[in-house]
Amino acid sequence: MQIKDLNVHYPLRGGFFNTIQDKVYAVDGVTLEFEKGKTYGLVGESGSGKSTTGKAIIGLEKITSGHIIYEGQDVTNRRRKRSSAYSREIQMIFQDAHSSMNPRKRVIDILAEPLRNFMKLSDQEERKRIKELLAIVGMSEDVLLKYPHEFSGGQKQRLGIARAVACNPKLIIADEPVSALDLSVQAQVLNFMKDIQRQYGLSYLFISHDLGVVKHMCDYIAIMYKGRFVETGTRQDIYLNPQHIYTNRLLSAIPHIEPETRLARKKARQQVEEKYQQNHHRYYDEHGKVYPLKSISETHKVAMSGIEQEGV
Ligand SMILES: Nc1ncnc2c1ncn2[C@@H]1O[C@H](COP(=O)(O)OP(=O)(O)O)[C@@H](O)[C@H]1O
Ligand SMILES: [Mg+2]
Repeated sequence: MQIKDLNVHYPLRGGFFNTIQDKVYAVDGVTLEFEKGKTYGLVGESGSGKSTTGKAIIGLEKITSGHIIYEGQDVTNRRRKRSSAYSREIQMIFQDAHSSMNPRKRVIDILAEPLRNFMKLSDQEERKRIKELLAIVGMSEDVLLKYPHEFSGGQKQRLGIARAVACNPKLIIADEPVSALDLSVQAQVLNFMKDIQRQYGLSYLFISHDLGVVKHMCDYIAIMYKGRFVETGTRQDIYLNPQHIYTNRLLSAIPHIEPETRLARKKARQQVEEKYQQNHHRYYDEHGKVYPLKSISETHKVAMSGIEQEGV
């Protein structure tokens, strides 16, 4: 799948005639390519356009311009069709699993819903598949008649994952899937996601505001700021050789629990801040916008003016 120059702009209306006064450039020229079986991290602070990117890809948000090519076909205007292969093969899970489940439905019906939408199964086959799905996320059949509110956050997120994998998707867009969970439960859910990926050869677009969370999940990472990518690369490129100041800021913001390194980390954050103050023009143009991406290696791209001079 390829995302080409994706733009999602929201009009801001106001005034007596409720006319368009300005626009929010929520997603502002994003290009991305997914390889089978890989995990792509999409990381940036709140409001940078991550969720809008995910929703635009899956068809929950209107695209202002750009193209989505899936298996050789332009599906930009076909994403919203419920019957298409695209809407079966691309699934999304959300931070708040609870609000994406109907509180009046039992687990059995929540898991049956995608099966009924996309697959023609007999009652018996459906029952079998639902049991398989529970097994995949490590839950027993006793939960079949329970309601969403009877589960903990981590269990609900597992049910969300079971529902997303019900019809054998190829790509799952996971929007902050563990951000609402306790640290210990986060690790469990991430491990499940990895296991499922190995079993089914799935790709993930893993959205997070925290570079710490995606570190062990992602093969490739895109750092997003104000609707644009500031840096993209392999996990090694981003964690071991970060170039953009915004990437460095996110790295220095990863929470740590060891008190011994607190002072060193504080110093590192101050250095990042100083470098930013001195070199602002190299990171953002005169309108405060991110520069176009330039390649600095086969896998690593950075949005900076004059990256050549730094001898990279
Ligand atoms: N329906 C909308 N109308 C206007 N602005 C919106 C709408 N949805 C999101 N935005 C704005 O678009 C930007 C990106 O939002 P979002 O994609 O939710 O960011 P993130 O997921 O990275 O926190 C934000 O500035 C947000 O306020
Ligand atoms: Mg979001």
